[in-house]
Amino acid sequence: MKRILSAIQPTGEIHFGNYFGAVQNWVRLQDEYQCVYGVVDYHAMTMPYNPSKLRENTWDILFSLMALGVKPDNLFIQSLVPEHTELGWIFNCFCSYGELTRMTQFKDKSDQVKEGDKDAFISVGLFDYPVLQAADILIYRADYVPVGKDQEQHLELARNIATRFNNTVGKEYFVLPEALYSEALKIRSLADPTKKMSKSLGDRHYISVFEEEKTLRKKIGSAVTDLGDEQSQGIMSPGVENLFIMLKAAGKKELHEQLIGLYQDPEIKLSYKDLKEAVADSLVLMTSGFIELRKELLANKKEIKNQIKESSAEIRKLAQETLKEVKELSGLQNVKF
Ligand code: TYM
Repeated sequence: MKRILSAIQPTGEIHFGNYFGAVQNWVRLQDEYQCVYGVVDYHAMTMPYNPSKLRENTWDILFSLMALGVKPDNLFIQSLVPEHTELGWIFNCFCSYGELTRMTQFKDKSDQVKEGDKDAFISVGLFDYPVLQAADILIYRADYVPVGKDQEQHLELARNIATRFNNTVGKEYFVLPEALYSEALKIRSLADPTKKMSKSLGDRHYISVFEEEKTLRKKIGSAVTDLGDEQSQGIMSPGVENLFIMLKAAGKKELHEQLIGLYQDPEIKLSYKDLKEAVADSLVLMTSGFIELRKELLANKKEIKNQIKESSAEIRKLAQETLKEVKELSGLQNVKF
């Protein structure tokens, strides 16, 4: 059975970008593949953070993932599999400084930190984090990695590191992982559709998949659409395209086609109020089940936490096996237990 690996940072709520771009696919792939999904808490330390909040967010996101349909046996917490960081170090020696300086996400995130204060602290962890990501993927020798398009460059780096490692040790040890993209490659921010939807942009920019109906409707209602006269010029603006993408991703394919038809018909001119209402209705319908399930899971906190600790320990065995072989191939010593 081919193996799938993916991961999410515990930096707050799961929004529709995470869900339509990645997590929805994680759930679908579980029947066909051996799936391993991580909540990567080491990654969440790369930006300024609060330690007690990190632990809380880690558990929070695990409950959320389960409510969205991810099976607990497939889930692990990265810091319960410390082999990731050891492989990360080894991979540091198979990645060039130049490659990391070309990572656009490092530039974006460090610019964001510096926006408020130009002398702000930028950690080496932020610079180096794509190498840890390569370790996350390769330690499970994953064949496929379901992610949003924003992770494309990181995936390419993981492939380069794997190739360089294989060449150095003289063995095709690592499979070169391939990205799996959903149809919704990128969900845009509601307040600024030139950017991707992201928690770090601020509250107006994203909607959590567990958002209350009232706020969800309000946020969709105030989503930015055309900035000028795009509709009559036959151009679909990014904001409008974003609404159509969400409608389709929420499973409303027929309605999507029908509304696209109306949008393109010069005689009718679909009103954005109607489009937004259709999008909000479909999102509310989809998420009401998630919200209910999450409440039920939260009532069994202790049991579920133990379950996740056990699944992490099981998944760790796969990581230990790879690390042992990698150390052997790299000329390092292995600890005998
Ligand atoms: P993170 O935590 O930012 O996002 C988790 C997943 O959600 C996708 N995503 C989006 N997709 C479409 N539109 C958006 N607006 C959007 N925002 C986020 C991301 O592509 C991702 O799939 N570096 C990763 C975490 C990571 C990882 C890994 C991923 C660490 N190790 C190994 C895959 C494999 C990140 O920060 O994702």
